[in-house]
Amino acid sequence: MKFRPAAAPLKGELHVPGDKSISHRAVMFGSLASGTTCIENFLKGADCLSTIDCFRRLGIRIEEKAEEIYIYGNGLHGLKEPKEILDAGNSGTTTRLISGILSGQSFETTLTGDASIQKRPMGRIIEPLSQMGASIESLSGNGCAPLRIQGRPLRGISYTSPVASAQVKSAVLLAGLYADSPTSVTEPSLSRDHSERMLHYFGAQIERKGTKAAILPGSRLEGRKVMVPGDISSAAYFIAAASIVPGSQVLIRNVGVNPTRAGILKVCEKMGADIQIFPCREDSGEPTADLLIKSAPLKGCVIEGSLIPTLIDELPILAVMACFAQGTTVIRDAAELKVKESNRIDVMTENLLAMGAHVTPAEDGMILEGGFPLHGALIDSHLDHRIAMSFAVAALQAEGETEIRGSQCVQISYPGFYQDLQRLQN
Ligand code: S3P
Repeated sequence: MKFRPAAAPLKGELHVPGDKSISHRAVMFGSLASGTTCIENFLKGADCLSTIDCFRRLGIRIEEKAEEIYIYGNGLHGLKEPKEILDAGNSGTTTRLISGILSGQSFETTLTGDASIQKRPMGRIIEPLSQMGASIESLSGNGCAPLRIQGRPLRGISYTSPVASAQVKSAVLLAGLYADSPTSVTEPSLSRDHSERMLHYFGAQIERKGTKAAILPGSRLEGRKVMVPGDISSAAYFIAAASIVPGSQVLIRNVGVNPTRAGILKVCEKMGADIQIFPCREDSGEPTADLLIKSAPLKGCVIEGSLIPTLIDELPILAVMACFAQGTTVIRDAAELKVKESNRIDVMTENLLAMGAHVTPAEDGMILEGGFPLHGALIDSHLDHRIAMSFAVAALQAEGETEIRGSQCVQISYPGFYQDLQRLQN
């Protein structure tokens, strides 16, 4: 797809689609619950549809209505051995969380995904799940999917994770539902806590203290109504676009602002962005807010430490914002960027350089000198949705035309993204 600079300041109001992390979890926990779970504002992006597909293959009845998704849970022990291989598509969350669940079943499953998933590290879940007694084999022998998971009786563990990863934490906690004693996970800093919140909402006995989460086995989960808030990771592109295109004013309704996800709002404040936050209600244990963004001059800042897990998926778009900020922005402690849907340090650097940005990659992040004009270029998304959306925003303030290869990959998390971006310019 080709993109021109913004035709006009961005003006108007929008609802971004439902949160991806919360949508996945609602399907998974609803499938393990007794009774019906009704999900409103479910994200019908390819990743969450992969989760639905996997649970259907595990014998769960799931109805997709126009406005809601209904999950007819079979209880903790109600999954059935699938006839085919499970395909998680591009979704790391599906792959890692479902591995935790499958570890506690009484059958064997093979789980795979697309070319990107088959390169992403699964050793980080194989290690703790094996300690619990599961038998998981990487069929290609490289620690990646396809995985053959033989469910086994599990024992509870106290796991100290080397990475702040909600996917690792959640996989272990979900396996903990099937263990013979309590299971806990301690992380180096707190990652998103949607699993802890939603498991509690469904009736599991789960506690969090600092960076440690602990679950008791055998909890009975009860089907619930889940209202999925708008995804702050999707709102991030409009926060950035409205901040950098002069004269813009955009209101984004009902965005999830869970503190373990909303690090971008703190960084935007440090950068001098003009964002007003109007808290709304709590939806199914998750705080939400309306966000009003007006364009403002930005300045560079340092993004590091315990803030990183709270904005890990927003670092590509924050790097774009940094190019339009005066001064230097340093991103560090973010080596996890290398193992996302693409190697986001390499891919951001390559594409930002193509647009004339001043960027230097580092082992655990990047250094950006802002304030130099960007020009249009040929961008390779590497089929990474967050890269494609970040450069569609960069193109708004670049001189000339930008072409994004593989631009359709936005269907992973935000199928209507380009239409929404266009609409705000009319
Ligand atoms: C997610 C956790 C994060 C994030 C991913 C979604 C989740 O990954 O990058 O997009 O839903 O738990 P890690 O847990 O690997 O950091």
